[in-house]
Amino acid sequence: MADHTQLIQAALAARKQAHAPYSKFQVGAALQTSDGITISGSNVESASYGLSCCAERVAIFKALSENQHNFSALAIASPGGAAPCGACRQIIAEFAPEATLVLVDSDNPNETDNETDIRTLLPNAFTGGDLPS
Ligand code: THU
Repeated sequence: MADHTQLIQAALAARKQAHAPYSKFQVGAALQTSDGITISGSNVESASYGLSCCAERVAIFKALSENQHNFSALAIASPGGAAPCGACRQIIAEFAPEATLVLVDSDNPNETDNETDIRTLLPNAFTGGDLPS
């Protein structure tokens, strides 16, 4: 099993930048790229609640917009070590299908090493391959 200690630390650090005044549920995410770069994100909430964006999607969109497309791992830190929401599962399936997903309980960061992958969380995902060309 790969050592994700530094990626977990990056997700915990990103969580501190969360802008979550409405839910108060702070989440941090950190992506490991095949270039050896770490790109992180936190959730950002809007006063118009539905416009809020999860930490996972912030991190993935940041990475893609910086020309990073290959991801080996994604660490997600939140209270209780929540699994990604359905919208984020779709984005992970499309853009980080090979990433090991490391779910980190920010209240017990040293005691958790809950690893999964998107095939488990979103089987038979729609990836756009059936769209007309
Ligand atoms: N949230 C995330 O950032 N990631 C998740 O995996 C679950 C939920 C955010 C969205 C919202 O800002 C807050 O947590 C409560 O749902």
